[in-house]
Amino acid sequence: MQPFTERNIVILTGAGISAESGLDTFRDPDGIWAKYDYRRVATPEGFAADPDLVHEFYNMRRREAAKCAPNPAHAALARLQREWPGGFLLVTQNIDGLHEGAGSTDVLHMHGTLSGGLCAACGARFTGPAEMTTASVCPACAEAGSVRPDVVWFGEMPYGMDEISDALAMADLFVSIGTSGTVYPAAGFVRLAKEAGAWTVELNLEASGAHFDTIIEGRASETVPAFVERLLAAPDGRL
Ligand code: APR
Repeated sequence: MQPFTERNIVILTGAGISAESGLDTFRDPDGIWAKYDYRRVATPEGFAADPDLVHEFYNMRRREAAKCAPNPAHAALARLQREWPGGFLLVTQNIDGLHEGAGSTDVLHMHGTLSGGLCAACGARFTGPAEMTTASVCPACAEAGSVRPDVVWFGEMPYGMDEISDALAMADLFVSIGTSGTVYPAAGFVRLAKEAGAWTVELNLEASGAHFDTIIEGRASETVPAFVERLLAAPDGRL
């Protein structure tokens, strides 16, 4: 078996990794989509119909995220990135900044970020205001009224798909953490990784039901640090 440390890891995270930092997930019983109609607050059509409602939805989520800190799962992934000698790509579906807050760098936010703004007029992506409104002005083209959250809504193309596909094609280990695996294209990454011959691991509160080689159930703040410890200590990567 090729020594494990020269191998490439691709990690996908979802809302579950931020749950213990205090942020709601989407599909748990008390999750975001139990409180809000995603069609009204997370689609281009919803934004066109009521931009004030959508801005307030993301302003509220920015206010909540500002009160949260990274948990040991975020810290463990930052450590893995620092200490792993092989290839490493962290892809997150999350729009919070908790991975960066824990020290991760070059995080691929495939669904965009709460801190980002996007101009519908000129296409500029920029660091947006904490409280974004229909009066917010694009710093690039100075258009007012064309600024939206730089968040990928349902029906829109996620960011970084070429980079993610290339990384999955070379992956030796694919690790999915804290995601229900219900939203594509992220939900299809495990199959792409398997096709590339990668070992696939799921760390989730409960198994999502998708086919992984290894499934580790439990709270991310406990399972992820232990998993990273094992990975870094593994002489030949046998999990
Ligand atoms: N530790 C580990 N896993 C957890 C924890 C925890 N403490 N708490 C919850 N989970 C798991 C849940 O069991 C669930 O499987 O995290 C998963 C969260 O699933 P979702 O709420 O569906 O969130 P996610 O998979 O990230 O959603 C994907 O859907 O609505 C869109 O754009 C949104 O990025 C989001 C995408």
